[in-house]
Amino acid sequence: MSNGEFVERYDQVILHPLTREQYGNSGFYNVGRWSASTPSAATACTALVADHIERAELDAPGLDVVDVGCGLGDTTAQIAAACRPDAKIVGVNISQAQVAEAQGRHPGLNFRVMDATKLEFDAASVDRILSVEAVFHFDPRTAFLDAACRVLRPGGRMVITDVLFTADSTPWEWWVPDVNRSVTLDGYASLCAQAGFKVESVADVTAVTWTPFCAHLRDTGRNEAADRIEKWVSNYLLAVLTVP
Ligand SMILES: C[S@@+](CC[C@H](N)C(=O)[O-])C[C@H]1O[C@@H](n2cnc3c(N)ncnc32)[C@H](O)[C@@H]1O
Repeated sequence: MSNGEFVERYDQVILHPLTREQYGNSGFYNVGRWSASTPSAATACTALVADHIERAELDAPGLDVVDVGCGLGDTTAQIAAACRPDAKIVGVNISQAQVAEAQGRHPGLNFRVMDATKLEFDAASVDRILSVEAVFHFDPRTAFLDAACRVLRPGGRMVITDVLFTADSTPWEWWVPDVNRSVTLDGYASLCAQAGFKVESVADVTAVTWTPFCAHLRDTGRNEAADRIEKWVSNYLLAVLTVP
């Protein structure tokens, strides 16, 4: 599938009024991190972004920070709020329409149309990369890992949530490139190391992300969707990587 077709299909889903309603008309679009008391999908999204922020060491002066696969911009805004005022933050997304929506929601922030596999930043010019539930889309994931390692400065840090999909996600095969499906939990750290990263941690957080999101779908009457997507995923990962 071409990038153009992928973006067109993606935009129809993420910008659909029913999708936005599901997320309380926030600018989030991820499964979120849930506890027994999480009241809504939007709250779960905020908690998941907070998990990235907690590990990203953003409280340092003058950071250059990139939010890759920034959706409709609320992840970028939450990250920006956790940085010092002198930080430079940019949210990047392959979709022009999503970038326009993000820019409208957050006029004071900087968003750019960019393919994550071809990050258009100078080598060793970025201090932090965060990517919330987007890396599995990047075609291929390894090109993004290579690009991220290249643009991060030595000592730079990347915090990502990534999803390992099973072979079949019928009828949404377009959602994940085939090349990204053969990765296993055991092989994930090696994949990151091959790109040049030191792997600080790779945690399987499926039980507090994908699984309760499916339960939330059932709680809100979307049993068919829950039954369909629950079997798509083998592992939902939260990884912290650094550049030596
Ligand atoms: C599940 S959404 C997550 C959005 C946002 N991070 C959030 O948590 O609300 C994945 C995002 O990745 C973007 N994306 C997919 N492929 C991309 C690529 N090759 N380069 C940049 N962004 C991409 C999609 O357009 C979408 O906005």
